[in-house]
Order: sequence, then C-alpha cells, then structure tokens
Amino acid sequence: MAEPVKAFVTGFPIKHSRSPLIHGFWLNAHGLQGSYQAIETAPEAFPAFIASLREKGYAGGNVTIPHKETAFALCEAHDAAAESIGAVNTLWFENDRLHGGNTDAYGFAANLDEYARGWDNADTALVLGAGGASRAIVYALKSRGFTHIHVVNRTPSRAEELAQHFGATVSAHGWDEAQALAAIAGLIVNTTPLGMEGHGKDAFTPDLAKADPATIVTDIVYVPLETPFLKAAREAGLKTVDGLGMLLHQAVPGFGRWFGLRPEVTPELRAHILADM
Ligand code: ATR
Repeated sequence: MAEPVKAFVTGFPIKHSRSPLIHGFWLNAHGLQGSYQAIETAPEAFPAFIASLREKGYAGGNVTIPHKETAFALCEAHDAAAESIGAVNTLWFENDRLHGGNTDAYGFAANLDEYARGWDNADTALVLGAGGASRAIVYALKSRGFTHIHVVNRTPSRAEELAQHFGATVSAHGWDEAQALAAIAGLIVNTTPLGMEGHGKDAFTPDLAKADPATIVTDIVYVPLETPFLKAAREAGLKTVDGLGMLLHQAVPGFGRWFGLRPEVTPELRAHILADM
C-alpha cells in the first residue's frame, strides 16, 4: 500500500496558522489518508529545512511569514505569479525539482469572484499598503485588467518601489492621498494590519460618503471578520467582502497538487474555521 501523502506549513511563529484546520477539514471530508502538519522553523534553520524535504518524504507544503522571499530564492522553478511577486507560499515537487508558487493572488481574486461577481469590471483600484501582501494583490489586479492601480503607503518609498516593479498601470501615493483616491476607486483593498485584533487601536476608517455607490471594499485582515474599515464601508452603503475567503481559496491549489484532488471552499469549511476564532 502506498504511504500516506505528507504536507506541511512552516513559519515563525506558526501556532496561529489556520492552514492545518483547512487542510485537515478537506482530508477528512474526502476520506484521504494524508497528513498536513504545522512546523515552526526559525529563519536560520529554514534553508536546512527546505533541503531536508525529500529525505523526510514531503510532497510539498506552505510557507508563510517570514519565509516567503527566502523560499522563492531556494526553489528550482516558479509559477508565473511567484515569478512576478518574488515570493512563494506553496511548494511541491515536479520531475524531482522543487517548485514554488504563489497562490495569494489567486485566493484574493477567487474570494471576490465568489462574493462580488463583476468586481473586475472596474478599472481603478486603491490599494492600502505596499508590503508582501500588497505585491500579490497588485499582481492579481493587473492580471484581471485593472488599468489604474493606486498604491498608498505610510512609507512612500516602498509604494514607489512597488509601482516601479509593476509598471505604468501602478502609481505610488502617500497615505494622505487615501481619502481622495477612495472617492474615485471602483475597488478599495486594505493590505495593512490596521484593524487587526491585537494590532493596537489604529484603524483606517475613511469618510466614504463621496465614494461611487458601486464601489467594492475588501480587507485581507479576517480577525475580526468585520474590521473597522469594512464597517465604515458598510455603513456608507458600499458592498464589502471580508478576508476569510482569501485564506480559504489560497489553500485550494496546494491541496490539489499534494493530495491529487481539487477541494471546494464550502459554507461548511467557512463555519469550521469561524468556530475556531
Ligand atoms: P505583509 O507581508 O503582511 O504585507 P509587510 O511586508 O510587513 O507585511 O507590510 C505591511 C504593510 O502594512 C506595509 O505597507 C506597512 O507600511 P510601511 O511600509 O510604512 O511599514 C503597513 N503598515 C503596517 N502598520 C501600519 C500602520 N500602523 N499604519 C499604516 N500602515 C501600516
């Protein structure tokens, strides 16, 4: 009988990761014998951990903060999203080579496809933040045809770097321009930890009274499910989409690669994760 397939998620720290719950739910729902284990790896131990994957018999796994860029450098091949974003969150072996992919952009778009169909008919987006998550989201917006992507960031030089990397459709702005840009964007995305539980009281609650009523507002933070930013948007009458779906959808491609079956993001999975929050 074949050995059960093994996969992992590694980060530092890793104890708050919900990925084991997601993959565990799917393994159980499909009656598969595989395993998906959380492994904490300090930055200095990460290259050796990656080098040991074959020997330990892993089919692949997920990498999260702070390893996504190092993982990119250690992979022997990349998918198009990882190549453009410069970070890897999903690893697998193909023809005995370690491949790295980035499924964050896919997860972001799939969440909006599910809850805000037609979101990509807009051409102007406002992205708050210019870190690693922002890069994946700007990549997703470009891939879905947005032609005016405005990135605002507390540290303007990071936004400029990001805009330069992605080219003419992306422009960089200081944080003080967020309010004015919110009024012209068809889609507004928060990629910063502002509003996240445990991240202090700072939150972004713009006055959205002047926003186009068709504007869609989304956050990648999902604890709490409705951030102060999403609450302000809802109260202004705008359509909002929380960040939990991005987390669930980004897990789909990895599971498919390791366990050979493409799982679904169902209301039952969502309830399973929410019950643990
Ligand atoms: P991630 O990979 O989650 O994107 P990151 O690369 O550390 O994490 O980026 C965090 C983003 O949130 C950055 O855009 C950061 O702004 P700076 O570049 O100015 O640091 C933004 N951010 C974090 N805390 C913030 C705060 N209190 N106010 C405004 N922006 C904040």
